[in-house]
Amino acid sequence: MLLGTQRINSRGQLEVGGVEATALAERFGTPLYVMDEEALRAKCHEYVSAFRAQAPDTMVSFATKAFLCRAAARLAHEEGLHLDVASLGELAVVLSAGVPAEHLTLHGNFKKDDELAHALRSQVGLIALDSVDEMRALSRLAQSLGRRQRAIIRVAPGIDGHTLDAISTGRSDTKFGLTVENGAALRAMEECTKLSGVDLVGLHAHIGSQILTLEPFELLAEKLLEFARTARDRTGWTPEVIVLGGGLGIRYSDEQRPPSVADLAKTLVGAVKRAAHAHGIKMPRIGIEPGRSVVGESGMTLYRVGPLKEVPAGDAADGSGKRTYVTVDGGLSDNPRPLMYGATYPVYLANRASEPASHLVRLCGRHCETDTFFDVKLPLPRPGDIIAVLSTGAYNHTMASNYNFFCRPPVVFVARGDARIVVRRETEEDLLRRDVG
Ligand SMILES: Cc1ncc(COP(=O)(O)O)c(C=O)c1O
Repeated sequence: MLLGTQRINSRGQLEVGGVEATALAERFGTPLYVMDEEALRAKCHEYVSAFRAQAPDTMVSFATKAFLCRAAARLAHEEGLHLDVASLGELAVVLSAGVPAEHLTLHGNFKKDDELAHALRSQVGLIALDSVDEMRALSRLAQSLGRRQRAIIRVAPGIDGHTLDAISTGRSDTKFGLTVENGAALRAMEECTKLSGVDLVGLHAHIGSQILTLEPFELLAEKLLEFARTARDRTGWTPEVIVLGGGLGIRYSDEQRPPSVADLAKTLVGAVKRAAHAHGIKMPRIGIEPGRSVVGESGMTLYRVGPLKEVPAGDAADGSGKRTYVTVDGGLSDNPRPLMYGATYPVYLANRASEPASHLVRLCGRHCETDTFFDVKLPLPRPGDIIAVLSTGAYNHTMASNYNFFCRPPVVFVARGDARIVVRRETEEDLLRRDVG
């Protein structure tokens, strides 16, 4: 399952962006996050053109929580995307990359007063309000700073995205946003239109991540417009913008066939148009904020293979009665998703990529947890080989931690036979810098 510019060359080596994975591992060390810049640009372009073909003024915002560094923020901006941020840290990175503040939306289900004040002073374009407390705080702070802030209200529309519990965020029973079902969203919206310092310009919902069918998105559009009609009937207020979140899934295996961006655009824009017409509401500007589907398939992680261990295993899937553990020089700290929710990924033995995948092995990391990645069929790895885990572009670099005080891997962008480092490897000095005791 090769993606973007990935290919296996005549030497049996996995390549990306015209560079062999083993050469990248030699030059930059392992573990290493590698981003296929051409594929990433192509995906940004695909999003903007697919949505603008359906609705020319669509606001496509990249959700930076999926992958963030200055180079990525700059690239997304260059490709015509806005960006969404969910913390002052994300805000600092995108502003330092030169992205104009008015192209940003600030998210988060608990923005503290000092964070709201900072966002106001930074003049971010939009703030997505997540609670009544937050609305009131924003109003107070905006008035004290003599500003008016454009805002959207995040609602929980009561939709199941049919994805993992940890990444399903649109049901009524959720910590995110204001629930439509119990009237909380309507009450909040009514109050918000009366608050000084806040211009309520729209509605927002994000129903979850790694969604592999179009139905939940269609339902989302219908529910948001239905809510807009109720709001209009009650208060006269109508949304200038409707932001329908991110959530489109990517291929983590051959069997997964997520809808195309073009089909998502047709479905979402079509559903908003139909529902707006049915409810007699002026067609709002559409906003979307994809993360995973922009960056996920463009990333891979390279590891060097360490010790192999063969252990007795009565439940071995191949009936051999034994299991081979293949240890790599990373794990939980650079990719927590397998341990968090059983995520799996396509894997190649990068330096012997054309050999038959003859052995079922269990990949594991080197942390003081049983940080098994997952079982995978590969040519039997040998210590020193390079393992490439594909589709790690989303929620890996940004979810990395310092568990066991391993240093976090660097990020390298590759394109047209060239590689450039955009985030350097963390060092022990970095770890010690914060320790002031
Ligand atoms: C508010 C919001 N918007 C967008 C996204 C991006 O979602 P995805 O990466 O699934 O596209 C998220 C992810 O959690 C989110 O919370």
